[in-house]
Amino acid sequence: MLLSGTANPQLSERIAREIGMPLGEMDITRFADGEFDPKISESVRGHDVFLIQPTCAPVSDNLIQLFIILDALRRASATRITAVIPYYGYQRKEKKTQPRDPISAKLMANIIEIAGANRVVCVDLHAEAIQGFFDIPVDALTATKILARRVRERHGHDVIIVSPDTGGAARARRLARILDAPIAIIDKRRPRDDTVEVATVIGDVAGLKCVIVDDLISTGSTLASAAVALREKGATAVDCVATHGVLSPGALERLHEAPIDEICITDTIPFPNGHNRSFDDAPKLRILSVAPLIAEAIVRVHEGRSVSELFR
Ligand code: R5P
Repeated sequence: MLLSGTANPQLSERIAREIGMPLGEMDITRFADGEFDPKISESVRGHDVFLIQPTCAPVSDNLIQLFIILDALRRASATRITAVIPYYGYQRKEKKTQPRDPISAKLMANIIEIAGANRVVCVDLHAEAIQGFFDIPVDALTATKILARRVRERHGHDVIIVSPDTGGAARARRLARILDAPIAIIDKRRPRDDTVEVATVIGDVAGLKCVIVDDLISTGSTLASAAVALREKGATAVDCVATHGVLSPGALERLHEAPIDEICITDTIPFPNGHNRSFDDAPKLRILSVAPLIAEAIVRVHEGRSVSELFR
């Protein structure tokens, strides 16, 4: 059985279409005070249930919804409950970087398990170690091949892949390997959440088409400052590919003004998502779907077949 929370119903519909079955019926209303009141309209007893709910903005609402629907499924005797979380909120807080920091990504994992998930499917985690925050199986899928297809369509193999920070070097290497392309790495500093400074570009990008790859775009500062630095070093074109378009307020404007030719993201998070904007505000943006990837993973999990080739 496939069920969808309200975080990204369009993606859930696409996944259901790919699999060739309808989404299960569930009404998610609110009590007068704003608390969620989900009602699953059909029996889930004995079913292998997949609940699709990325925990993107509004993050707290989408998380709480995920937790309480998992709880409802567990209490209703579903045989196995898989939380399909295409975008995992709070994943950037996966370690302490300052005294008295929380490790929010671990806390979310604890609650997801306690609420009732027996398995998790997610796409391009910020840090692979987050898989280990769970004591249940995690299928950590990647959209790298989907993004690589777009890069190849635009540039063939004639590109250099750029990581916008040292932490993303392995991600850049994975994309570069598929495209048989060289890589460059940017040494980035982040004095404030919405401010990024580029210290150095490691690698020669002069006269080359650059494709910056990142896991997510939030304020857009990382990509905007990386693009400026690459142009200053003589790059002839700059495209960006990222799995998750978090696109916090102000990001589209920042990216629009940056010397970037195309920004390619996926539909793990809906666009537009709660802000007053449309595709007209985002002429450089292209969105590819991860629905076929997630649908394939769901079918394989259900049939007890290997999912590992979808990680590569
Ligand atoms: C950082 O480690 C991440 O991989 C992204 O580069 C970062 O979170 C993007 O954030 P923003 O768009 O706000 O610069």
